[in-house]
Amino acid sequence: MSRSREGHVQFRIQPGGHLTGDLRVPGDKSISHRAVMLAALAEGTTEVQGFLEGEDALATLAALRAMGVPIRGPERGRLVIEGRGLHGLRPPLGPLYLGNSGTSMRLLCGLLAGQRFDSTLTGDASLSRRPMQRVTAPLSRMGAQLETGEAGTAPLHIKGGQPLHGIHYEMPIASAQVKSCLLLAGLYARGETCVIEPAPTRDHTERMLMAFGYELRCQDGCVCLSGQRRLHGVSLLTVPADISSATFFLVGASIAPGSDLRLTEVGLNPTRTGAIVILRRMGADIDVLNERTVAGEPVADLRVRHAALHGTHITPDLVPAAIDEFPALFVAAACAEGETLLQGAEELRVKETDRITAMAAGLQALGIIVEPRSDGIRIVGGAPKGGRVRALGDHRVAMAFAMAALRADAEIVIDDSRNVATSFPGFVELAAGAGLGIRSEVMDEQP
Ligand code: S3P
Repeated sequence: MSRSREGHVQFRIQPGGHLTGDLRVPGDKSISHRAVMLAALAEGTTEVQGFLEGEDALATLAALRAMGVPIRGPERGRLVIEGRGLHGLRPPLGPLYLGNSGTSMRLLCGLLAGQRFDSTLTGDASLSRRPMQRVTAPLSRMGAQLETGEAGTAPLHIKGGQPLHGIHYEMPIASAQVKSCLLLAGLYARGETCVIEPAPTRDHTERMLMAFGYELRCQDGCVCLSGQRRLHGVSLLTVPADISSATFFLVGASIAPGSDLRLTEVGLNPTRTGAIVILRRMGADIDVLNERTVAGEPVADLRVRHAALHGTHITPDLVPAAIDEFPALFVAAACAEGETLLQGAEELRVKETDRITAMAAGLQALGIIVEPRSDGIRIVGGAPKGGRVRALGDHRVAMAFAMAALRADAEIVIDDSRNVATSFPGFVELAAGAGLGIRSEVMDEQP
């Protein structure tokens, strides 16, 4: 285990500067998880390029390996997976540890509910606090047998050998993880599994299932599939750059005078582009260039230049397509003229940390006026000062505050930033190369 894995990581960012150049952020996290899960369940070999070598996607990979899936790589984002077929996984020797990764836990839970063997899913302290009943309750209705901890949290114990049957499930919350979990369980179920969404959520599972030759029907917010068919390996799957990672740079370049940045091969699935819509409403200057389709996903290059931002009202309908981008968007709002109000985003409270509380505390520490609310936040734009903030182990909180330094009047120090490696390995180097005065320090103790 490396020292940085054990130690406390702190970011120190010098104030000012701007972002320029061409860069490709790492592969999409959501698509990386799905690519390797479906490749493992497919018949035949699948090659993946652009795979995110971040800890979350690597946790999924390690779980698949522990269940006997032969995988070569990853080497610079390339992987070769020998699919085992729907019924070819082997019982793991012990619990499957998924670190910080909610997507791994919720999706694998659906996949494992249909296996002939028992399994246990565990995670780090943050993942062990996150709600899992949202997946275990509908899985039980499909005939799965699962046990959670008392608070409905991990560890999850999944009993194998249970015959599953399809259900029609109206999701009470808009969650792509819940939808995907049930679709994966539905692969093993007798009959039809249908998931009805209250609002559109990322549809990477649906697109990826189709890429592996699995038939499904999507209409009017309802997605259905029939179980017990086959997935066929794909000769080459390309994972686009992650729009969630790109958003830190969209915000950084927008707020920092003199910035002109090009982000290449960014996934622009319409269920994920809420941050671009919101930033443009705030006055951001973002051009979408060279649009194309890669492995069933829309992709483009983005050019972003500095612009004077103004506050906006973010209504609940805009939330699902920007759900992971709010920490960065709050920093944009803190540097904008006027007020920004976000509503309908209570889900932010159950992410890797409570992102409303974490961001409100950090923005206040930087002298910004904020009013956290149960379902969102009100931010009065101003000029962030330097100071010390805590990322609370949340990768996106850490990266959002790093960008705030571009407009701060003194150094920003961000404690507890180690988990940036879960979604964005190489963030510090890439951001420094584009012009952010950032360095990362590993300390033995948390200050
Ligand atoms: C994800 C779905 C979203 C998102 C998460 C990744 C996915 O979670 O926040 O980072 O890959 O399906 P919810 O389904 O809880 O909204």
